[in-house]
Amino acid sequence: MTAQTIAGLAMRVQGLEKSYGKLEVLRGVDFDVAPGSIFALLGSNGAGKTTTVRILATLLKADAGTASVNGFDVATQPANVRESISLTGQFAAVDEILSGRENLALVARLRHLKDPGAIADDLLRRFSLSEAGARRVSTYSGGMRRRLDIAMSLIGNSPVIFLDEPTAGLDPEARIEVWDAVKELAGHGTTVLLTTQYLDEAEQLADRIAILHQGRIIVNGTLNELKQLFPPAKVEYVEKQPTLEEIFLAVIGGDKSDATGTTTGGQG
Ligand SMILES: Nc1ncnc2c1ncn2[C@@H]1O[C@H](COP(=O)(O)OP(=O)(O)OP(=O)(O)O)[C@@H](O)[C@H]1O
Ligand SMILES: [Mg+2]
Repeated sequence: MTAQTIAGLAMRVQGLEKSYGKLEVLRGVDFDVAPGSIFALLGSNGAGKTTTVRILATLLKADAGTASVNGFDVATQPANVRESISLTGQFAAVDEILSGRENLALVARLRHLKDPGAIADDLLRRFSLSEAGARRVSTYSGGMRRRLDIAMSLIGNSPVIFLDEPTAGLDPEARIEVWDAVKELAGHGTTVLLTTQYLDEAEQLADRIAILHQGRIIVNGTLNELKQLFPPAKVEYVEKQPTLEEIFLAVIGGDKSDATGTTTGGQG
């Protein structure tokens, strides 16, 4: 029955543990991701987001726990997992010398697809890059590069896409462009696991949001469910909904630091 259950989920992560030497990064991470949904993994710097993504993408072995992607176990069926996924890393992996169109066509060729040129043109159109398509990527803005990077990750129609901090370092306009690209992905039925430190990004994009903190998922739910964890603050006549940032700080205890006394995000 488990195979059936797992097959109905795009991802299932149970009891995942990972240490680097003495540093325990993941200490029992659990979450499920429904097919066709956008799942945001939120966490501060060093929380273990990239570590989790690398385990799910079979680039890194977990010390304990199990994970399946597209119904395949990452430890025992890594080849099947790799065929099911596409990974866009924390830093854009496009070739600067080539044009956007050439980058896309190259990936299509590497994936042995028919008519790489047509695939490239279709993706350029979908990601509003048709006009820039013939230009060298070195002339692209950060947002255009990111969109190209995401477009490249779409080639081959992987059912599951990992986006590790897709908008890190982008300006607000470029971030919105990337958000539209991600929505486009999910609109086509692709399952997206997205990591981010930007709370508004999760708020904008995600069907479900999980907060990774001190090696565990401490909150997992829809934005509305997360909001219901905290009563709205009442200020005179205006009912103020908590922002995801307030929820985040409250659950990790970062604001009041009543747990360990450590403060984060100091200005130095
Ligand atoms: N190969 C490694 N060897 C030793 N420590 C590592 C290694 N990779 C990651 N770490 C440490 O593990 C912790 C988690 O790193 P990870 O990259 O998963 O965090 P992250 O949530 O992706 O952070 P960021 O938001 O900065 O990208 C960090 O303390 C990091 O320094
Ligand atoms: Mg990271």
